[in-house]
Amino acid sequence: MSTVLAIETSCDETAVAIVEGRQVLSSVVASQIEVHRRYGGVVPEIASREHVSAIGVAIAQALTEAHLPWSAIDAVATTCAPGLVGALMVGITAAKTLAMVHSKPFLGIHHLEGHIYASYLSDAAVNPPFLCLLVSGGHTSFVHVRGAGDYVILGKTRDDAAGEAFDKVARLLDLGYPGGPVIDRLAQTGNPKAFALPEGKISLPEGGFHPYDASFSGLKTAVLRLTEKLKTEKNENGGELPVADIAASFQSTVVRALVKRAIACAQDHSLSTIVVGGGVAANSGLRRELQAAAANRHLKVLFPPLKYCTDNAAMIACAAVEHFEKGERSPLTLGGQSKLSITDIAQLYHN
Ligand code: KG4
Ligand code: ZN
Repeated sequence: MSTVLAIETSCDETAVAIVEGRQVLSSVVASQIEVHRRYGGVVPEIASREHVSAIGVAIAQALTEAHLPWSAIDAVATTCAPGLVGALMVGITAAKTLAMVHSKPFLGIHHLEGHIYASYLSDAAVNPPFLCLLVSGGHTSFVHVRGAGDYVILGKTRDDAAGEAFDKVARLLDLGYPGGPVIDRLAQTGNPKAFALPEGKISLPEGGFHPYDASFSGLKTAVLRLTEKLKTEKNENGGELPVADIAASFQSTVVRALVKRAIACAQDHSLSTIVVGGGVAANSGLRRELQAAAANRHLKVLFPPLKYCTDNAAMIACAAVEHFEKGERSPLTLGGQSKLSITDIAQLYHN
């Protein structure tokens, strides 16, 4: 069982973890959310600087908590794509330096691959093939995981990612950043049937709709129009804006779109397990509705523990263990990439 120290700095969390196989020995996450909140979203240059000041302490803390000497660590890994390039470079530079100083192999990891493997940290028995519903702040896709490093994208959003839709709707309701957790909380006290909102669908040239692709930008615009209308009515007649009902109606529409497509992907490809990954995997409505829909069809659903849904380095280390054990290594010339499809990760490794 290999032991990997991994770093994650692709966005606004400075994270370092040590994982042995699928067991987390330490996981440190220094969040920058408070710094970015006043701007309503992540400011890339500020994110890079915050990573620089937090990374040293996070590495030291991860090593201390794991009670491991360097001799027990087999490899050093870091997220190298996709993400904010300046932010990625902080983790990449730190990981390369540690690999050189301690003479360890170095591996670059695709951020979304980390989200796929986050569920391995709660269930050591899960193995491909399975369907992964990947729902993060920047990506939403339905991935057929055929093996470690072997991915086929069955469907995806054509515009906004699910997490992005949560963040944008929260902003237009003046709920702050990030939007997912606050909408999730409010939705629990609202009526999901209060407002009928459109579930985005992708038309096919031959008629009908794409069974797996999704669209969330129309839904976001519908929430904007609805909110403007309700605000005008409120100004004329008084009363409160029914924010909890709007949040619940929005969330249930997103969840319905995701659940329907995930179930269709799994059934059509004879996959009996659905693994969920990414920040939106923390959503209580998604967790409840997907479990219920899957149970009716005798499908198994796996969600990561809440702390491994949003960005962390334990999931990156877990993905790195898979690549390391296949004999794959990355060159020390590896750079950061803002965009890279999960189907193109072979370019990160040589044997
Ligand atoms: O995976 P992640 O930490 O970062 C990216 O790789 O993008 O995901 C962050 C996203 C944000 O859009 C945030 O609003 C969303 O995950 N999120 C949630 C919840 N917690 C975080 N969305 C819905 N419900 C939640 N409970
Ligand atoms: Zn992420």
